[in-house]
Amino acid sequence: MNFFQKIQCLSLPLILMYYFINCQKIPNPRSQQTSAQIDTKLYFFGGDLSYNDTLNSHDANITNEVWYLDLSRSFNTTALPWNKDVEMPVGHILGAPCVSPIDKSIFFIGGRMFVPNTANISLYSSIIYLFNPIISQWTTPNIVGFNVSFTRRNEIQPVIDVNGKIYIFGGSRYDDDDNDKFDIYNDMNIFDTNTMNWSTLPTSNNVPTSRICYTATLLPSGIILYIGGDDNHSSVSMNEIPAFNTKTYFWSTIKAGGAFIEGRLGHSAVLTKHENIIIYGGMFYNTTGTQAVPYIAELNTNTWIWSIPNVSKTNAPPSLSFHSAAIYGDYMFIAFGQTAVISPARINLINNVYILDTINYNWVTTFNQNKSIPKEKPTLNDYINSALITGISIGVGIIVLGLLIFGFLIFKK
Ligand SMILES: *[C@@H]1O[C@H](CO)[C@@H](O)[C@H](O)[C@H]1NC(C)=O
Ligand SMILES: *[C@@H]1O[C@H](CO)[C@@H](O)[C@H](O)[C@H]1NC(C)=O
Ligand SMILES: *[C@@H]1O[C@H](CO)[C@@H](O)[C@H](O)[C@H]1NC(C)=O
Ligand SMILES: *[C@@H]1O[C@H](CO)[C@@H](O)[C@H](O)[C@H]1NC(C)=O
Ligand SMILES: *[C@@H]1O[C@H](CO)[C@@H](O)[C@H](O)[C@H]1NC(C)=O
Ligand SMILES: *[C@@H]1O[C@H](CO)[C@@H](O)[C@H](O)[C@H]1NC(C)=O
Ligand SMILES: *[C@@H]1O[C@H](CO)[C@@H](O)[C@H](O)[C@H]1NC(C)=O
Ligand SMILES: *[C@@H]1O[C@H](CO)[C@@H](O)[C@H](O)[C@H]1NC(C)=O
Ligand SMILES: *[C@@H]1O[C@H](CO)[C@@H](O)[C@H](O)[C@H]1NC(C)=O
Ligand SMILES: *[C@@H]1O[C@H](CO)[C@@H](O)[C@H](O)[C@H]1NC(C)=O
Repeated sequence: MNFFQKIQCLSLPLILMYYFINCQKIPNPRSQQTSAQIDTKLYFFGGDLSYNDTLNSHDANITNEVWYLDLSRSFNTTALPWNKDVEMPVGHILGAPCVSPIDKSIFFIGGRMFVPNTANISLYSSIIYLFNPIISQWTTPNIVGFNVSFTRRNEIQPVIDVNGKIYIFGGSRYDDDDNDKFDIYNDMNIFDTNTMNWSTLPTSNNVPTSRICYTATLLPSGIILYIGGDDNHSSVSMNEIPAFNTKTYFWSTIKAGGAFIEGRLGHSAVLTKHENIIIYGGMFYNTTGTQAVPYIAELNTNTWIWSIPNVSKTNAPPSLSFHSAAIYGDYMFIAFGQTAVISPARINLINNVYILDTINYNWVTTFNQNKSIPKEKPTLNDYINSALITGISIGVGIIVLGLLIFGFLIFKK
C-alpha cells in the first residue's frame, strides 16, 4: 500500500462519516415557518410538522427549530448545506420576523406561539421575542404601552423600516382555548424598536378591510403594499392593493391592471432590485384548499401592471402555499411549504429549496455565489466605504501618476 492508497483508505470512512453527519442535518418537511435574511444567512424559524392539520388548528405540531443556509458559498439543491441554530423558546408559525437595520437582531411579533412540539395553544400569547443571531440568544424585551388587544394576533406579516419601526397590519386573534373561533382586524400597530414604544393608530380614511395571510412589501419610497390575503373566507382582489405610507401614516388604494391574477392567501412576495414584486404560490381556502393561478406573477411598481412570466417547468417547485421566499442578488429562494391540494386528512409538506434565476426566469439547481450580487441596495455604510475606496484609489492613482511623471522627467534629464 503506498501513501496515496493509505490516504484513500483513511478518507473513505471520513467521507462516509461526513455524509452520515450531514444527512442527520436535514430539516423535516414543514409549512407556515417564518424566515429572515441576515447578511448572507437565510434563517427559517419554527413551522408546522403535522401532515394532518388540514384545518390549521387542533392537529398542529409546531416546532421551535431554527435552521439556516449560508449564502456566502455556492451550493446545489441536491445537497443543501443546512445548519441548525439554537432553538426558539416557543414553537412559532404564521408571523414574520423583522431584522433590525440597526443591530441585526430579529424581532418576533405575533404569529402563533406554542409549547414546542405540540399543538398546545396555552402559549398562544404573541409575546415579543428578540433573537441575537451573533450569540444565538433569545430574550423577551419590555414593551412600553403594549396594546393587550394585540395578544394572540397571527396570520400577519410585520415589516420593519430603515429606522427600526415595525408596522403590523390586521391579522386574526383566536380565542384563548378555541382555535376555531376568531376575530379578524384591520388596525395598524406600530412598534418602535429604538424606544420599545407600542402604539395603535386610530382608524383613518381608506383603511382596508380586515384581512389575514396577506404579504407586506416595503418599497424604497416608504410605502408598504399589502397584496392578497383573505377577508373572512374570501380572497381579496389582487387589483386593488392597499398602500400604507410610513411617512404620513395615510392609507391609499393602488389600482393594478394587466394580467388577471387570482386572489390568494399563504403566497409569498419578494422585491427585486428593479423594484418589481414577484409573488409565488398561494391558495384559496375552501375546504379542499385550491391552488390560485397563475402560480407566479410579477407586479411592476412603476406602471402597476401585473404580468405572468414565462418560466420553464424544468426544476420548478410544486404549487406551494405557506412556504418561505427570499431574494438574494438575482436569485429568488423558495423553501418548505405545503402543496395547496389538501386531501381530506393529509397535507403534503416539503423540505426542498427551489431557486429561481429572476433574470432569465428559469429554475436552477445550483446557487452560484460568484454570480449573485449580495446586496439589493448599497447601505449608507457601503456608500461611505466605496467612496473611501474610490477616494483612496484616486489618491493612490494620482500619487502613482505623479511618481511616473517625476520618474519620466528624471529619465529625460
Ligand atoms: C393527526 O395526527 C396525530 C399524530 O399522529 C394524531 O394524534 C391525530 O389523531 C391525527 N388527527 C386526525 C384527524 O387524523
Ligand atoms: C411532532 O413532531 C416531532 C418531530 O417530528 C415528533 O417527535 C412528535 O412525535 C410529533 N408530535 C405529534 C403530536 O405528532
Ligand atoms: C450537486 O452536488 C452533489 C453533491 O455535492 C454532486 O454530486 C452533484 O454532481 C451536484 N450537481 C450539480 C448539478 O452540480
Ligand atoms: C399546555 O402547556 C401548559 C404550559 O406548559 C401546561 O400547563 C398545560 O398542562 C399543557 N396542556 C396540555 C393539554 O398539554
Ligand atoms: C365572517 O362571515 C360570517 C358569515 O359568512 C359571519 O357570520 C362572521 O361574523 C364573519 N366574521 C368576521 C370576523 O367578520
Ligand atoms: C409612544 O407611543 C405613544 C402612543 O401609544 C405616543 O403618544 C408617545 O408619544 C410615544 N412615545 C415615544 C417616546 O415615542
Ligand atoms: C388597541 O387595539 C384595539 C384594536 O385595534 C383598538 O380598538 C384600541 O383603540 C387600541 N387601544 C389603544 C390604547 O390604542
Ligand atoms: C374549491 O374551489 C375550487 C375552484 O373554484 C372548486 O373546484 C372546488 O369545488 C371548491 N371546493 C369546495 C368544497 O367548495
Ligand atoms: C414560453 O416559453 C416556451 C419555451 O421557451 C415557448 O415555447 C413558448 O412559446 C413561450 N410562451 C410564451 C407565451 O411566450
Ligand atoms: C466561483 O469562483 C471560483 C474562483 O474563481 C471558482 O473556483 C468556482 O468554481 C466558482 N464557483 C462556481 C459555482 O462557479
